[in-house]
Amino acid sequence: MVAPTNLSAWQALGAHQAELSQQHMRALFQQDPQRSTRFSVDAAGLHLDYSRNRLTDTTLQLLTQLAEQAELQPAINAMFDGAIINQTEQRAVLHTALRNRSSRAVTVDGADVMPMIRDTLQKMRDFVAAVDSGRFAGYTGKPLRTIVNIGIGGSFLGPKVVSDALKPYWKTGFDLRYVANVDGTDVTEACKGLDPETTLFVVCSKTFSTLETLKNAQAARDWFLSSGATQADVKHHFVAVSTNTKAATEFGISADNMFDMWDWVGGRYSLWSAIGLPQALVFGMDTFEQLLAGAHTMDEHFRTAPLAENMPVILGLLGIWYQNFWGAESQAVLVYDEYLKDFPAHLQQMDMESNGKRVTRDGETVSWQTGAVVWGGTGTNGQHAYHQLIHQGTRLIPADFIMPLRSHNPVADHHAWLFANFLGQQQALLEGKTEQEVLAELTAKGMSADTAAALAPHKVIPGNQPHNAITFNLGTPEVIGALIALYEQKVFVQGHIWGINSFDQWGVELGKVLGNAVYEALQSGDTTGYDSSSADLIQRFRAAQ
Ligand code: F6P
Repeated sequence: MVAPTNLSAWQALGAHQAELSQQHMRALFQQDPQRSTRFSVDAAGLHLDYSRNRLTDTTLQLLTQLAEQAELQPAINAMFDGAIINQTEQRAVLHTALRNRSSRAVTVDGADVMPMIRDTLQKMRDFVAAVDSGRFAGYTGKPLRTIVNIGIGGSFLGPKVVSDALKPYWKTGFDLRYVANVDGTDVTEACKGLDPETTLFVVCSKTFSTLETLKNAQAARDWFLSSGATQADVKHHFVAVSTNTKAATEFGISADNMFDMWDWVGGRYSLWSAIGLPQALVFGMDTFEQLLAGAHTMDEHFRTAPLAENMPVILGLLGIWYQNFWGAESQAVLVYDEYLKDFPAHLQQMDMESNGKRVTRDGETVSWQTGAVVWGGTGTNGQHAYHQLIHQGTRLIPADFIMPLRSHNPVADHHAWLFANFLGQQQALLEGKTEQEVLAELTAKGMSADTAAALAPHKVIPGNQPHNAITFNLGTPEVIGALIALYEQKVFVQGHIWGINSFDQWGVELGKVLGNAVYEALQSGDTTGYDSSSADLIQRFRAAQ
């Protein structure tokens, strides 16, 4: 693998950055009234306006050249074709097959995986219908109407975004709760007020070995049994989605109530699989399949659009532009949609677990920055919290603003005010306020020249802060599918160009192993071999019990 830093486009981008650093985006807009038309792209119901970036035609050309020189298109094809691109785990990466709505075969080891994907979708559809009709009911014959999703990481964050975003599509009478954290508070609060006779727990775990999920599933089963139900009743209230049928059976889940997933689907990319069953139970299979269809439309755009007009490619390249050439360290995701409030949390896992890597696919230590710190929240709440740092702090923080143009909940003129804030913030980030403007404003208010001069530096806002605007008409299932897929493919683009494997996560393993050992020490009190700080904390915990 050629290091990206050795590619001629990378070097040219370095020189180009030095030139562009002298320019303010205000000037770029003044020079080109067509800028927003030229630097925007539409795909799968999403509109990306990336004109408010430190970017010219030359930048776009060089970034596209970087993608070409890094052989991005063959890499995209290899992923869609089921090549073993996760080489440390010897796996294909095929979440795209889960949402493949075309007749294109997708093969792994020579076998077409589409028939088993379709079979699982049909099994989900049948199960959703059986729960709806009461054919699959609780042990006392009552219909199951509260679904509890037990799972963590990719078996929680992405699914939660989907169910929140598609709340307007929920069937009447259904409720959905989540239990993820091993903190007993999570399962306690989730079960509070529930009727065991009408509650269905869906244990979502690709491996069925994740500590948090197993402990929570056991706690939920204990809660269920404590209501007077018997072990034989468990099968009416617990179903599983997993690759590990043996462990799920041992837990007491009947083979009929297990839903397959496959090792070529990474946890953080699994919301498109049967991991989506809890969500499908509350909003129906048609909505779930519309979600898949939207993601598929984005995939087709990603697979076939020229690199310079390809939304995930552009988003990925812009991220590289700021992280690697302008010294940015984080990426803000600012969602002006309450239904998407947990989207930044999902992106944290999807992006940071994927691209938080420090060696190349060949095992060489990288000498360039890789995955950014992803963070964010909802507008306008963020405007009263961290936006100040983006406007006037010392760090460069590229931001993605995301907003539906129409609301599922039109309340008076709220949506127009939301949009006014969405755009007002972006204008402030773009234009800022110069010292001259501040002084003129203060003196016009009658302030003395001396007082105005003293106050002015505090009121100057540099602007020139790069950001994207992603808008869509309404948060429909198709659009939400496309939005999530957009970011998945963006992460792919970046991981490929950085030369890393975006699909393993060895870093999280060490903490799990050490956590197990600490648990033993908490039981025995034997802290031999622990550093003094760890030993002290262990003894403090024991003393408090
Ligand atoms: O956090 C590590 C991780 O392996 C994630 O990649 C995954 O989504 C999560 O744990 C849950 O894993 P599982 O679905 O196997 O319980």
